[in-house]
Amino acid sequence: MTLPPGLSSQLEASKPDFDIVSLFSTREAERYSLHSQYMNEMMVRVLRTIGYDIGFCRGHGQYLFDRAGEQYLDLLSGWGVFGIGRNHPRLRQALTSVLASDLPNLVQMDVSPLAGILAERLLHHLPYMDKVCFTNSGAEAVETAMKFARKATGRAGIVYCTHGFHGLSYGALSLNGDRVFRDGFGPLLPDCVQIPFNDLEALERALACRRMAAFVVEPIQGKGVNLPDDDYLAGARELCHREGTLLIADEIQTGLGRTGRFLAVEHWDVEPDMVLISKTLSGGHVPVGAVLARRGIFEKVFDSMERAVVHNLTFAANDLAMAAGIATLEVLESERLMQNALRLGARLLAAFEAMASHFEMIKTVRGKGLFIGIEFGQPHSLKLRAGWELIEAISSGLFCQLICIPLLKDHRVLVQVAGHASHTVKLLPALVLNDEDCDWIKRSFETVIADSHRVPGGIWTLGKALAEGTRKAMAHRYSYSRESNHHSS
Ligand SMILES: Cc1ncc(COP(=O)(O)O)c(C=O)c1O
Repeated sequence: MTLPPGLSSQLEASKPDFDIVSLFSTREAERYSLHSQYMNEMMVRVLRTIGYDIGFCRGHGQYLFDRAGEQYLDLLSGWGVFGIGRNHPRLRQALTSVLASDLPNLVQMDVSPLAGILAERLLHHLPYMDKVCFTNSGAEAVETAMKFARKATGRAGIVYCTHGFHGLSYGALSLNGDRVFRDGFGPLLPDCVQIPFNDLEALERALACRRMAAFVVEPIQGKGVNLPDDDYLAGARELCHREGTLLIADEIQTGLGRTGRFLAVEHWDVEPDMVLISKTLSGGHVPVGAVLARRGIFEKVFDSMERAVVHNLTFAANDLAMAAGIATLEVLESERLMQNALRLGARLLAAFEAMASHFEMIKTVRGKGLFIGIEFGQPHSLKLRAGWELIEAISSGLFCQLICIPLLKDHRVLVQVAGHASHTVKLLPALVLNDEDCDWIKRSFETVIADSHRVPGGIWTLGKALAEGTRKAMAHRYSYSRESNHHSS
């Protein structure tokens, strides 16, 4: 691509003292000390403790590369933002073409053509929806939907589920089903009611007061990879309709092909009143979110010219974000990534189910498309049970970490535990995964899980070492904080 003459000479002129990529190369090895000093030190401690301080230097598609150029298979995909893989050439081309142009961008007292085009293309996938409001993130989409629901219904209440995760800003945090995220940040928004996930009777009871504006639910919960029963979402649709409550599907993680359909709700033929998307839509490069809603909701929120900007986010419809969204949709379609997710997801599920039949610590395997959870549980045999109980006593959920660590260290597979104290390892790879990657996953998991079923074996030794390391770090921290308290008093 040729850059306009003015821009290329400007870039050339600014190169020697302002080259971000050489800045990255010359200082990337300092990333942990920079973060410890200037940012979240605890995050660095976690990474170091579990050996996740690799220092990745390059990303392409579903792969990451370390300093030595070693290739890793990324099953986190940046918490799901790299649906189309890292640095996709078509996304990059879309973004550089915007940067190389003189598009007006964010005029504000005008409307953006690219935003209109992206809205049109998104709505093409959801014919029952009419309108789109763009946001800068997933949490902002949740905040927007909560406001819209209150205004559209004239009610205050919002119902949400145990284990739900919708982001960490105040409204979204008020719908968080995990105490660890909420503790210490209260008081949260009033009138938010928690019910168990996958429980229609509880939902019926919560809606019966007819004061609930919305029921906000992830079709498949990210924390734990919890799937609903087949009648749950359709039942929720019916109950919400009956009680005048809006059904809001948070598809921020499950949307845009992740589960093998454009939206996860399509697996159960459910049409919500609002749908929230983000993550994959960004192409992994430019944060963006969107609330897709029925016309009546918009008519209630924007009900006069005076209120035309009553809900508005300065950066949301910026050209780079809109271009990223348009390019992502093109890649999803042209590379048939939803179909790929469906096929490879089924392949992986079958492989893990086969493992579950001969590894007693695999309790269940579940998922849809490339959104898969492998849940571990207490073994039957006595010698394994002793090891399991020891690890559980140290820290609930530590067992899964003991699966993830050797996966990274010995097999170069980056994967995560599906939440605090969770016994589920979660796979959330880019949708561009291929058959060789599936072989890689199967081989690595099989070896690591087999090792976990040998006592004494590598992972049990690792568990003890980790527990000892954590104990020492805490003791050191405790004495350090006592010392600093002493000095400051
Ligand atoms: C289902 C769901 N909703 C909302 C969010 C919040 O998105 P963000 O981190 O962009 O605010 C997330 C993020 O992980 C999510 O998984």
